[in-house]
Amino acid sequence: MASAFTSLASKLTTFSQKNFLSSSDLNSDQIFSLLELAKELKKGNRRIDLGNRVLGLIFKKASTRTRVSFQVAMARLGGQTVDLNPQITQLGRGEPIKDTARVLSRYCDVLAIRTFSQQELEAYAQWSTIPVINALTDLEHPCQALADYLTIQEKFGQLEGVNLSYIGDGNNVANSLMICGAMLGVNVKICSPLGFEPDAQIVEKARSLSEFGSKISISNDPFVAVKGAQVIYTDVWASMGQEEEHLKRKEIFEKFKVDKKLIELADEEVIILHCLPAHRGEEITEDALESQSRHIFDQAENRLHVQQALLAVQLGGL
Ligand code: CP
Ligand code: NVA
Repeated sequence: MASAFTSLASKLTTFSQKNFLSSSDLNSDQIFSLLELAKELKKGNRRIDLGNRVLGLIFKKASTRTRVSFQVAMARLGGQTVDLNPQITQLGRGEPIKDTARVLSRYCDVLAIRTFSQQELEAYAQWSTIPVINALTDLEHPCQALADYLTIQEKFGQLEGVNLSYIGDGNNVANSLMICGAMLGVNVKICSPLGFEPDAQIVEKARSLSEFGSKISISNDPFVAVKGAQVIYTDVWASMGQEEEHLKRKEIFEKFKVDKKLIELADEEVIILHCLPAHRGEEITEDALESQSRHIFDQAENRLHVQQALLAVQLGGL
């Protein structure tokens, strides 16, 4: 046991003090090791005490899971969080990121940031002397993908060769699922309406990182895309910041609803995942969500375990 942990720690210590801005900031080996550490923490086999370190949370968008799971993860590591809501800091009055980041680096040990543009997140990382974590941008949601693949690994006992079909908008969640899945050997099919596919550069990036024969494909017919799927994944049709497109998107995405009819075309043992929050009756029906709720809430729980593992690694707790 001790030697298994030593080998896990040696793979992960190279990530100490590193930023986690994209799923691609971790390599395949590091992701597998992080998932192992998350499982150890989840089982209660390992206690890591970081000794009163502080995580700063800068959230420009709403959040339940990400915010609370980071707060609880930090508490379990013997640390604390400070809420740096832009409305109550000078950020809201336009203090530049380059000043804010340098000041916060003098008080905090790590920052988790939820904002709109990936460039803004990168600016924080550029000016901070402490690690920065992507807590969701319009481009990626890498902490979510870690929890998603931990959940899939728990359900199927492996990741290599698992067929995941994501049905819906080619958004931040889809991007991180592709990049992270490619490195873990998962076959990821993204099926979106025409014009709502993921950015071609992200698809290329995912393909270039592919390991263990992972295939990444993009298509537009959900009834074809779910054939052979062991995991069907969906997310909202209009993400935060796209509220004014909601009605238009409801019409365009109607065929991409995850319902009984679609699920019946997938593998017999298929599980449904959703990052939540869900819009019942839009991307997923009430029945589909409730019949799969144990998986979906396991997935939400796993946010806590992967983020606790991530913080422990970044803050040198191994
Ligand atoms: N899945 C997710 O990131 O949820 P929150 O928006 O509640 O953080
Ligand atoms: N794609 C969604 C994910 C929410 C967790 C959004 O960005 O709003």
